[in-house]
Amino acid sequence: MQAALANPALISLAAGFVDQESLPAAATARVMTEVLNDPVEGRRALQYGTTAGDTELRSQILRLLERGEGVSEGAYEAYLPQVVVTQGSQQLLYLVAEALLDPGDIVLVESPTYFVFLGVLETHGARAIGVPIDDGGMKLDALEATLEEISARGELGRVKLIYSITEHSNPTGLSLAPDRRKGLVEIAQRWSKERPIYVLEDAAYRGLSYTDGPEPRSAWSYDETGDTVILARTFSKTYSPGMKTGFGVLPKSLVKPILGLKGNHDFGSSNLHQMVLARVLREGVYIEQVELLKSLYKAKRDTMLEALDQHFAGFDGQVKWTRPAGGLFVWFSAPEGVDLGPLGSVWPNCQSKGVIYVPGQYAFAHEPTPPETNHARLCFGVPDEADLKEGIARLAAALAECLDPVA
Ligand SMILES: Cc1ncc(COP(=O)(O)O)c(C=O)c1O
Repeated sequence: MQAALANPALISLAAGFVDQESLPAAATARVMTEVLNDPVEGRRALQYGTTAGDTELRSQILRLLERGEGVSEGAYEAYLPQVVVTQGSQQLLYLVAEALLDPGDIVLVESPTYFVFLGVLETHGARAIGVPIDDGGMKLDALEATLEEISARGELGRVKLIYSITEHSNPTGLSLAPDRRKGLVEIAQRWSKERPIYVLEDAAYRGLSYTDGPEPRSAWSYDETGDTVILARTFSKTYSPGMKTGFGVLPKSLVKPILGLKGNHDFGSSNLHQMVLARVLREGVYIEQVELLKSLYKAKRDTMLEALDQHFAGFDGQVKWTRPAGGLFVWFSAPEGVDLGPLGSVWPNCQSKGVIYVPGQYAFAHEPTPPETNHARLCFGVPDEADLKEGIARLAAALAECLDPVA
């Protein structure tokens, strides 16, 4: 961030921000005016609300979930008491950690995972243990093996959470394969021998899918007990991060503790933002915005992938990258031993050529193996198409000086 501010010519493939031009300012202004002009709604919006959140928004959230999971309207009505609106999904992640974790507790995370959540775990003194992934996200056999090892060490009682970013993950862009979602829930339930092991399903990028057809069912939808999966979602990526509104659908056992903590934090998210979002959802403004973002980000993703194909063609397979079906990120990997981190040679070389990325090492837990340093997270959300092409060209030029391109 500092580097980008100091050098305006720098192309940032680092910031995980959303596209600036497409932010729905006009539609939001219209809806906000409607809310404020209504003599009853307007005053309610400017008043305190409840800790769980605006009932109309929470109902709209259930309708959104019903459409997304392909069930009939009203099918999820009974979940209303389990829906909590939070200050972005980040607050929910924090509240879950605060409610569940004592120092020394264990959280199993994808390797790599969302680095900000690793920070949340560190704050709570919890141990993050990485579970290997492949193109289908967290490998369930590796998850079982990790649980076996932890159990053999007598530490199973310290495992509280399995954290999975199921849709177009930050940082890899990869999703948990549809045929692993039920299995993930079953593993958590089967290993809840000494105490409950919850699945924290972070679906921050749900909605931003660039392939045709419906998105797969969430892991949450396979939780028939209703007491294993914590679903964390947000309107930041699909509508506006400035609204800072996310939500959770909580297992029944966690509703009271999480609401208690949220009460202590802020006794409720902004009522104005919630009421605007409720209308945005009800009037179909939200769906229109998501459709717009999908075509815009699809084009940006394609531009980044084409630029990678073009500029790294001469590297003879020495580097590789993911081809995400949605979200905002591509995960780029150099050969092992090539350090893309802040202490390696590529990072300063990129800065001097005018491009930055997020060093991938930040996205790894420190157990069971040290963080890998040969990766980078590239975000295609913010730069325009010209900058995406130029940014990748600069990245290739910088890497070429550290590797030996074949052609
Ligand atoms: C995977 C993931 N989860 C959660 C969040 C939190 O976002 P917000 O608090 O804006 O909902 C982000 C933001 O980048 C994210 O990438």
